[in-house]
Amino acid sequence: MCGIVAYLGQREAYPILINGLKRLEYRGYDSAGVALMQNEAIVLHKCKGKVADLEELCRDKDVSSHLGIAHTRWATHGEPNDKNAHPHLSENGKLALIHNGIVENYLVLRKELVRRGYQLVSDTDTEVVVHLIEDIYKNEQVDLAEAVRLALVGVVGTYALAIISAENPNQLIVAKRGSPLLIGIGDNEYFIGSDGAPIVEYTKNVIYLQEGELAILSLGQDIVIKNSKNKAQRPYLEKLEISLEQLEKGNFEHYMLKEIFEQPNAIKDSMRGRINTRKDMVSLGGIIKYEEKMLNAKRFIIAACGTSWHAGLVGEYLFESLVRVPVEVEYASEFRYRNPIINEDDVLIVISQSGETADTLAAVELAKAKGATVIGICNVVGSTMARNTHAGSYTHAGPEIGVASTKAFSAQITVLSLMALNLAHKKGKIPLSQYHRLISDLEAIPDKIQEILMQNDYIKEIAKFVAQTSNAIYMGRGVNFPVALEGALKLKEISYIHAEGYPAAEMKHGPIALIDEAMPVIVLATEQETYEKVVSNIQEVRARKGKIISVVSKGDTLVKEMSDYAIEIPLTEELLTPLLSCVPLQLLAYHVALLRGCDVDKPRNLAKSVSVE
Ligand code: G6P
Repeated sequence: MCGIVAYLGQREAYPILINGLKRLEYRGYDSAGVALMQNEAIVLHKCKGKVADLEELCRDKDVSSHLGIAHTRWATHGEPNDKNAHPHLSENGKLALIHNGIVENYLVLRKELVRRGYQLVSDTDTEVVVHLIEDIYKNEQVDLAEAVRLALVGVVGTYALAIISAENPNQLIVAKRGSPLLIGIGDNEYFIGSDGAPIVEYTKNVIYLQEGELAILSLGQDIVIKNSKNKAQRPYLEKLEISLEQLEKGNFEHYMLKEIFEQPNAIKDSMRGRINTRKDMVSLGGIIKYEEKMLNAKRFIIAACGTSWHAGLVGEYLFESLVRVPVEVEYASEFRYRNPIINEDDVLIVISQSGETADTLAAVELAKAKGATVIGICNVVGSTMARNTHAGSYTHAGPEIGVASTKAFSAQITVLSLMALNLAHKKGKIPLSQYHRLISDLEAIPDKIQEILMQNDYIKEIAKFVAQTSNAIYMGRGVNFPVALEGALKLKEISYIHAEGYPAAEMKHGPIALIDEAMPVIVLATEQETYEKVVSNIQEVRARKGKIISVVSKGDTLVKEMSDYAIEIPLTEELLTPLLSCVPLQLLAYHVALLRGCDVDKPRNLAKSVSVE
């Protein structure tokens, strides 16, 4: 949520900043801005709209500079417009600041600043911080870094921020609490990013700033890092684990399509090194130290948001069927405020693509405070979740840029399947034959997804029908129910068609009232225990003239005949079906959105990484 980029060095800052903003645009894209140091003065350009609009604004301007900060915004406080766009300037125009996060006590701070005669020009929570720094800097006889530190002591909330000062034209100050911030170290140059995406093409050497830390970056001098108590900290250099190629669209029109097509490899990468060649052992290195806790858990609680929450629901089926331990799946946002009952023998599994979702991170802290073991499943290496959980398994799906999550979802289910298989086997809950069969089927999933992807053109045809509607219903049962929810979410997110996912049998309790000849009903009717029941549910829809788009198992004839359109997917173990059945629904949503002229990778109002509550 909100992307921040900054550069200090010998090169031209502007192209690095714009390029970086483009790479971070998935974090927010309602306005963008840049502040450049030019001849010991700060020059500001910012506007409502996407990074391309900012580029247009700067087209004929002098943008030469070796120090700059830039921001792409996802609005929280104040509507997306020019004046609310970052960077924000202090009153004397000598300080510029960009911020990701939320200043919770901004109203109190604002009132105090107004009382002292400051004129705030935006509606943002951020602007108070830059005035506060200026106020302390002017009045307290301290240097800028100390003024920043003192100002941040008074800030309640979260931030990743970068500040430049006209009085220090070769210095950049950054600070972090609750929102991610990376410092890329070059040869007497520094690159700042909300994540590695804007940094990786210049350097792989990075420092992940820790909670409450502030870094002073000055040309020709060593980096200085201090904690919130002003104690110097030793910089800890790490290697970025992403490549530039992973961040490019390649031959695909959109990141989302690329990521859908990457699923066979993403799933292979999720499994890599975790199943031994004799298929008699699944092991997840990252959780070995806490495996005993997991084996003895009386209950698993899975907490997540959005698509990751849907993966959690699939996890519930996997864990309860195989491990035979009760599972509760929670929206992290509700869980954290419910005063939940958490015991020391509970294991909380948190799932997140970004590893930065504020509510999910809050669930981590809550469970830790109550003595539970916390296991993370996340995609972004080095993310806050990866650092704050007791142990965990990366999904290794590679960077996911499209705002609508696709390959991260299937990789999360892959890791959940491996975890469940490992625990079930070690607890003696499943026969060896079932264990081996499931492992073999899991290993066959990538090729089966490849088969489904070959139906892309056919799914495009189906999309022509769905694109004309304004509502859609998705239904599934058992392990396919979360897939119905996920299919509906994909359609909503990127095509803006209102869609609902339901457990098929619940249709009779309300949603069936919505069915008429204009309503597409997307049914997951693969070979499963409740197949016959789903067939009855389809009949009920057809009797009311609803249009059936079904996802069926290869060789199916019954449901196919009842359907207006049917998409075949290969057979697999029922518990693993979501890994296949989600794929046609992702493609359907993609093509519908495209036909409706929507910005697939940057759907309106959404952001990929929701690092605020
Ligand atoms: C946002 C994204 C979703 C994602 C959700 C949870 O809403 O747009 O695609 O599923 O956040 O994100 P996480 O990074 O925790 O999986």
